[in-house]
Amino acid sequence: MAASIVLHDFEPSIGAFLDEVLEGLSQPQKRLPSKYFYDRRGCELFEQICELEEYYLTRTELTIMRCWAGEMAARIGPRAMLLELGSGASLKTRLLLDRLQDPAAYVPVDIAREHLMATAAKLRLRYPGLDIRPLCADFFDWFEPPEFEQIPERTVVYFPGSTIGNFDPEETETLLERMAALAGSDGGLLIGFDLQKDPAVIEAAYNDARGVTAAFNKNLLARINRELDANFHLEHFDHRALYNADAGRIEMHLVSRRPQTVRVHGRAISFARGESICTEYSYKYNHRDFRRDAAGAGYRHVQTWTDERDYFAVAYFEVA
Ligand code: AVJ
Repeated sequence: MAASIVLHDFEPSIGAFLDEVLEGLSQPQKRLPSKYFYDRRGCELFEQICELEEYYLTRTELTIMRCWAGEMAARIGPRAMLLELGSGASLKTRLLLDRLQDPAAYVPVDIAREHLMATAAKLRLRYPGLDIRPLCADFFDWFEPPEFEQIPERTVVYFPGSTIGNFDPEETETLLERMAALAGSDGGLLIGFDLQKDPAVIEAAYNDARGVTAAFNKNLLARINRELDANFHLEHFDHRALYNADAGRIEMHLVSRRPQTVRVHGRAISFARGESICTEYSYKYNHRDFRRDAAGAGYRHVQTWTDERDYFAVAYFEVA
């Protein structure tokens, strides 16, 4: 049974990438969409970030999964179809798949196509009986979930890794509603999110001593140079990450070290000295606000698992 893995392909086009980049760079506060961090090099750098001493998120979430994946699997129940948004290396998913009773299928959804296919191939070896249907898409866009001959008992959307943190409150509401629609009635949502804590701890996680996060941030410019015919000089930008306590989020920027003009696909983009491009938000929640947002989007809270320090949470909701 060495059937090849079929990709469901909704990958954003290069034209969409260019449009979004030019649109973002024309705003008074310049912006670039964080989803474009994840080219081949970006995926590699992100995996290095996950291993950093300062980056508590992945380690903490993995600890929660190691302790509680059994309970989560019991909540999810037998013969579920797991649809994961932003699946990356599917590391946490394995802990869940190991415990799920008779899973009907696994649909990893990710924007990084090569990485998605490589991960799907590895999972195929590890779970030979499991129906794996990778789907390449910007999950914020519309995409058609794959169809199954045997309708799964229930659909559970798995959204780990604090990826939800990349979205502002309005987008978060939209996304929570869409995930409820994907899961359908009787469906569930298992979601990992980062919690508010000492801002020094949060800031350190995005300003690591080895400069891996800085390299990750600047790699976005290298990708734009390569794929969109641009001429950013990486050494003319500094990485900066600050915690905005009022908004409850980390903001990552690339700060222009000098006045300069950059060309992106023939378009001139000017920077004053000290002017920044905002490349990412990463929201940090408290339990009460998160539950309120989820209730507003039509979920019933079932259970939340956290670590001893209450740094990170994984919560299970049912579609109400
Ligand atoms: C993958 C979106 C959860 O926001 O912490 C890591 C990405 N950015 N370091 C995060 C990221 C800088 C990460 N997420």
